[in-house]
Amino acid sequence: MKEKEIKTLIKVYDYEELSAEDRELVDAAKAMTRSSYAPYSRFHVGAAIRMDGGEIVTGSNQENAAYPSGTCAERTAAYWASAQYPGVAMKKIAIAAWTRLHKDESEPDEECFQRLPISPCGACRQALLEYEALYGDIEVILYGLDCVYVLPSVKSLLPLSFTEF
Ligand code: THU
Repeated sequence: MKEKEIKTLIKVYDYEELSAEDRELVDAAKAMTRSSYAPYSRFHVGAAIRMDGGEIVTGSNQENAAYPSGTCAERTAAYWASAQYPGVAMKKIAIAAWTRLHKDESEPDEECFQRLPISPCGACRQALLEYEALYGDIEVILYGLDCVYVLPSVKSLLPLSFTEF
């Protein structure tokens, strides 16, 4: 028997420590939470992708009365990015979320955002991984009020992943 250990390196930043470009990407993800359609979960997620070339493509979660038909912010952004810029690499993705489940439902203020970074679901990791396999590493920036996690790639969030058959 042998053992194999898989390690994930997470860099933990304060928001102010990020580069101006990364703050811009995080801000775009935060702003995008406002376009989230989440009447069922009341969990509002925004994602922003930095394309190779500098453009920012954004998305938010879109829910549906037939629950499984809804889509996460990350996949909304990634599919939109691939549709708008076919063949162009996605360099980074930033994700932010807030919920007002226990508060009123008016416009979010800064304090509504999740204290700890939220991380993409398994299906979004799988979807993003496909673009990463095609175009190279996509850095993942997970925003929280208390800190920001930065991971070097989607693969680092999905070890032993399924990429080909
Ligand atoms: N959601 C996202 O958009 N991204 C994530 O990383 C986690 C979950 C959405 C799906 C659903 O609309 C709501 O958040 C609650 O799960």
